[in-house]
Amino acid sequence: MHLSFPAGFLWGAATSGYQIEGAADADGKGPSIWDRFTHTPGTILHGDTGDHACNAYDPARLSADLDLMVELGLKAYIFSAQWPRIQPDGRGPANARGLDYYRRVVDGLHERGIVPILTIYHWELPQALQEKGGWLERDTVERFVAYAGILHGALGEQVPYWITQNEPHTSTWEGHGGGRHAPGLRGERNALTAAHHLLLSHGRVVREFGAAATGGKAHYGAVLAITPVRAADPASAADRAAAHRVDGEQNRLFLDPIFRGEYPEDIRARYRTLTDDFAFVRPEDLAIIHTPSDFLGINYYTPTRIAAGPDDRVLLRGPLGPRTAMDWAIDPAGFHEVLTRVRQEYTGQLPLIVTENGASFRDYLDPEGRCRDTERVDFLRDHLREAQRALADGVPLAGYCVWSLLDNFEWDSGYRERFGLVYVDYATQRRVPKESFAWYQGVIRANALEVGG
Ligand code: FCB
Repeated sequence: MHLSFPAGFLWGAATSGYQIEGAADADGKGPSIWDRFTHTPGTILHGDTGDHACNAYDPARLSADLDLMVELGLKAYIFSAQWPRIQPDGRGPANARGLDYYRRVVDGLHERGIVPILTIYHWELPQALQEKGGWLERDTVERFVAYAGILHGALGEQVPYWITQNEPHTSTWEGHGGGRHAPGLRGERNALTAAHHLLLSHGRVVREFGAAATGGKAHYGAVLAITPVRAADPASAADRAAAHRVDGEQNRLFLDPIFRGEYPEDIRARYRTLTDDFAFVRPEDLAIIHTPSDFLGINYYTPTRIAAGPDDRVLLRGPLGPRTAMDWAIDPAGFHEVLTRVRQEYTGQLPLIVTENGASFRDYLDPEGRCRDTERVDFLRDHLREAQRALADGVPLAGYCVWSLLDNFEWDSGYRERFGLVYVDYATQRRVPKESFAWYQGVIRANALEVGG
C-alpha cells in the first residue's frame, strides 16, 4: 500500500539544547537547573552529565549536523534555546554570544531550505532563577516573557513556529512532584504550583508574540505529551476511576486550561485542601492561558496502564506486549487515539504537529560499522501509518517529527538510551546514520509510506 501525505507536510526531526549542545559554560552561558542537577550525585545513571553531550555547540559540528539534515531531506527541524545561554542568570540584557549561536542555527537551516521550529523552554531554567524559587514563583513568568521577548526580537522574522513550553507535564510531575528531573522537588503542591506558572507563561507568550498579536508571521503553541491512560482491568470500576484520575493529572490538567480556560473539576476537587483551593490562580490567569494558540504540538510515545491501589493510591502497571529498550509499551494504535481525541475534545480545526515520536533501542555499530536498527524502522513505520489514518479521519496534522535526529543525553537515563536516526559515538563524536535514517529519507522523498497488507 502506498499511503501518501499532504503536499507541504512538515517532515522533521527534533532535538533539545541540553541534550545535544555540550559547551556547558562556553561564551558566557550561565548554569541551568539541569547543569546543577546532573552534577548532584545520585541523580543520573552513571553520573552522566550534558557537559559535552553531542558537542553540537561547536561550529564545525553544527554545520556537519546541518548537512546531515539535508542528506536526510528534512523539511523542518525542532531545536531548543537554552535560556541561560541568552540570559546567564535569567534576567537582564541578552548575552550576544549565546544569541549568535541560535542565529547560526537558524541561518544554517534557512540556507538549506529547512524550516526552523524553536522551543523556547525545554526545561533549562537558569539556576539563578531556581534560587529565587523557580516555577514556584509567579515572578518566573515575568522573567520567561522577557526571555521569550529577546528571542522573538532577534529571530521572530526568521522562525515561523515557536514552541512555548515543551511537555509541561514532565516539568510538573518529574521536576516538581517526583524529583526525578531538575530541579528535583517533590510533592503535589509544588507540582501544581509549577504547572500553573508554566501554563501561565505559555499563555502570556502566545498573547504577546503569537500570530494574532504580531501579524501572522510567527506561530506559537505549546507541546504536550499526551498519553492514553488505560485501566489495568477495564472491568474494574476502581481501576477505571484511577485511570481517569491519572488522565486528569497527565493530560487534562494541561489541555483543559489551554483549550477550555478551566482546570478539570475532578483535579481541583482532589487537591483543593492541599493547594488552598488553587490559591496560585489569579482571576485573569485562566483567560490568559486560554489565549488561542496558533497550533498544538503533540509528543506521543506510549500509553500508561493504571490500577487502583490501597489508600487512594494509583499503581503503574508494566506494559503488555512488545516494548522499547526503555520498557515503554509499543502501541501505535494509541497514537491514532491521541490525535483523534485531542482534535475531537479540544482543538477542532487547529493545526496539530507531532513534535516528537520515536523509540530507544539497544543500538550498536556492528563489525561492518553499520547500525541496523530494524526495530526503529518498524516502530516508525507502524506509527506513521497511524498518523496517516488520523489524517484520513480528518485530523489537521501539519507535520511529524522524529525524536530524535541524534542519539543524545536522555535525562536521568544518561547516555544509555539511544533515540537517534543517527548513531553518535560520544568518545569521538562521530555520527553514523542508522538504517532508520535511510528509511526515513525514503519516506520524506516519496512523501508517502509504503506498507505491506
Ligand atoms: C520527551 C522529551 C525529550 C526526550 C524524549 C524521549 O519527554 O521531551 O527531551 O527525552 O521524551
